[in-house]
Amino acid sequence: MSDNRTIGWLNRALQHEFGAVQQYLAQSVLARLLGDAEGAERWRDEALEELAHAERLMERLIQLGAAPSAGALPPARLGRGPQDFDGIVHAMEWQAVRLYQDAAEHAQRMRDEGTHALMQELLQAEVQHFRNAGRERIA
Ligand SMILES: [Fe+2]
Ligand SMILES: [Fe+2]
Repeated sequence: MSDNRTIGWLNRALQHEFGAVQQYLAQSVLARLLGDAEGAERWRDEALEELAHAERLMERLIQLGAAPSAGALPPARLGRGPQDFDGIVHAMEWQAVRLYQDAAEHAQRMRDEGTHALMQELLQAEVQHFRNAGRERIA
């Protein structure tokens, strides 16, 4: 059994990932309703990638004997519409980077190698998301 704070970090990360699924899926739906099929598909792919992250975290929680508990999700943000999506996503992905940095640090302090490896892997994925969001915003 792992320490409570490790379970807390895993559940906080799970909350982030489900929030990201909700955010990207909402963007996909709005794009589709506006007739942008290409945008709808692109945002949907992002949602599925975040869902896969949630699945990895759940796997670790269950391995550690804890029930996955994402808690309440923040509402999706749609701003004024698709013109605001890149900025919204940029901010959300930056929060993910900070969260995984702190979570990885905690796992390292606890010498929990399995959780540390997972947090590092997800950190790298979110750094890439953050960079992609920045690029799209500048473009
Ligand atoms: Fe993610
Ligand atoms: Fe992400």
